[in-house]
Amino acid sequence: MGNNASCGNAAASIVEPLVELRKLSKHFVRAPSLTAGERSLPAVRGVSLRIAPGETLGLVGESGCGKSTLGRMAAGLLEPSGGDVFINGLPLWDKKAHKDYRAFRRSLAGVVQMIFQDPYSSLDPRMSIGDSIAEPLLCARRCPDRERKETGGEIRGRVRTMLRKVGLEADAAARRPHEFSGGQRQRIAVARALITGPAFVVCDEPTSSLDASVQSQVLNLLQDLQDEFGVSYLFISHDLAVVRHMSDRIAVMRKGRLVEEGDADRIFFHPAEDYTRLLLEAST
Ligand SMILES: Nc1ncnc2c1ncn2[C@@H]1O[C@H](COP(=O)(O)OP(=O)(O)O)[C@@H](O)[C@H]1O
Ligand SMILES: [Mg+2]
Repeated sequence: MGNNASCGNAAASIVEPLVELRKLSKHFVRAPSLTAGERSLPAVRGVSLRIAPGETLGLVGESGCGKSTLGRMAAGLLEPSGGDVFINGLPLWDKKAHKDYRAFRRSLAGVVQMIFQDPYSSLDPRMSIGDSIAEPLLCARRCPDRERKETGGEIRGRVRTMLRKVGLEADAAARRPHEFSGGQRQRIAVARALITGPAFVVCDEPTSSLDASVQSQVLNLLQDLQDEFGVSYLFISHDLAVVRHMSDRIAVMRKGRLVEEGDADRIFFHPAEDYTRLLLEAST
């Protein structure tokens, strides 16, 4: 496979993974204390996973098992201690594999995005909604090998289109985050994540801070937009019912390690591992 990001390969029956996490690990260094020296705490330990184009891979596991750490590495936001993330065959963290690594990093805004749990802290309170949504687009536009750079008018048009797609009025663009409810703010975060047309979005507990009715609206929105854009999701949640509703396949983590992965129905009806069974029992 060559190092280019083009799709539409003739061998349609062989689906290349869009995203490949290869032996990813992360250690956080804890500051030295009087009783103990500097300690390295493993949060993720050698996790390998693949995600196909247009697929949703659910990621579950109890709090603190390393889901968010894995998600941030997969989205290109946190540098791994070991292993790498490949998107369309291109390594996110191997600087030597790229002619111009900084330009590659900028171009990532058009390829991978992340949606966080807390819509209150993920939007800059001083920025208008329109500027927040346009920001990743402006970032991707600075990529030198982009053939065409949109004008300001075109960008405003794209922001209005995205606002409509996520179910908000076009005049929301001029307003600020505090004028919106939690659910509306998460819709804004979805618009911001999808405006560059990324192939891959990491959703980290995207509806965990919302009321149940609002939660299902945002989940349906994410599914509708996936159908429309063909985007792949890594969908992280501690809520197994939500993950089951969203995912084609599910991966289970425990203490930084991958316990098992498989078809969503298989994981739910025939878990291979005792730990998965316990997790399922605990959630019902
Ligand atoms: N920035 C950080 N510095 C130090 N330790 C961290 C940091 N982020 C996460 N951790 C630790 O890594 C482990 C995994 O955390 P996290 O990925 O947030 O788990 P989850 O999302 O599954 O709840 C936890 O023990 C957590 O305390
Ligand atoms: Mg988390």
